[in-house]
Amino acid sequence: MSREITISVFKFDPRDKASKPEFVDYKMQEDPGMSLFIALNKIRETLDDDLSFDFVCRAGICGSCAMIVNGKPTLACKTLTSQFKDGHIKLMPMPSFELIKDLSVNTGKWMDGMSKRVESWIHSSKEMDYTKLEDKVEPDVAQEVFELDRCIECGICVAGCGTKAVNENFVGAVGLNRVARFQIDPNDERTDADFYELVGDDDGIFGCMSLMGCEDNCPKDLPLQNRIAYMRNKLIQVGKQK
Ligand code: SF4
Ligand code: FES
Repeated sequence: MSREITISVFKFDPRDKASKPEFVDYKMQEDPGMSLFIALNKIRETLDDDLSFDFVCRAGICGSCAMIVNGKPTLACKTLTSQFKDGHIKLMPMPSFELIKDLSVNTGKWMDGMSKRVESWIHSSKEMDYTKLEDKVEPDVAQEVFELDRCIECGICVAGCGTKAVNENFVGAVGLNRVARFQIDPNDERTDADFYELVGDDDGIFGCMSLMGCEDNCPKDLPLQNRIAYMRNKLIQVGKQK
């Protein structure tokens, strides 16, 4: 038999001067296998057509539906309402990102700034020759790069990060993961000294307090703390030589 659930949603439109932050309760019958994505759409279709939230893929791939669910940052499309035994679910937008409206935040703007900050592209002095095959990469190295490339830029590691909560300039696990990805890519000619210049400070690798909020919540189970620890170790060696 289906039960009634209550979804309490943070609502606020920063562009509307009359808008005040508030939680609005929506009650509905739970359908079998209902995800938060389905529940939110049901709210928008039947109870409140003004409610804003983001989604694209509905399959845990695009990263756009990340939000705070009962205090934990997670992907709404991969969260079932049945996980919450008392039938009460509280939804908030992720902190650390610019609020667009209600549950919608501008992760894209933040990710763009982070990408520029860590110079998130292959640095190579080689002339690109499109008529030639790509240089070969050892399969185990390619696999390692691929593993870190699985990041979907959802922002959950940023929203769950204690360091980011006290230091707004912290580049986050997603930024450090990006650096780690280029550090192991044989096509990138940057040295550890170059990476030290990028993230060798308290806004980067030395700011992380290893509170695990990133890895504990990452929906892609990326080995964030391992990579951060490894990079910190390497960059400490660079720092010692300075
Ligand atoms: S590292 Fe994980 S939590 Fe962070 S943005 Fe990438 S997929 Fe999301
Ligand atoms: S809608 Fe794409 S990850 Fe949830």
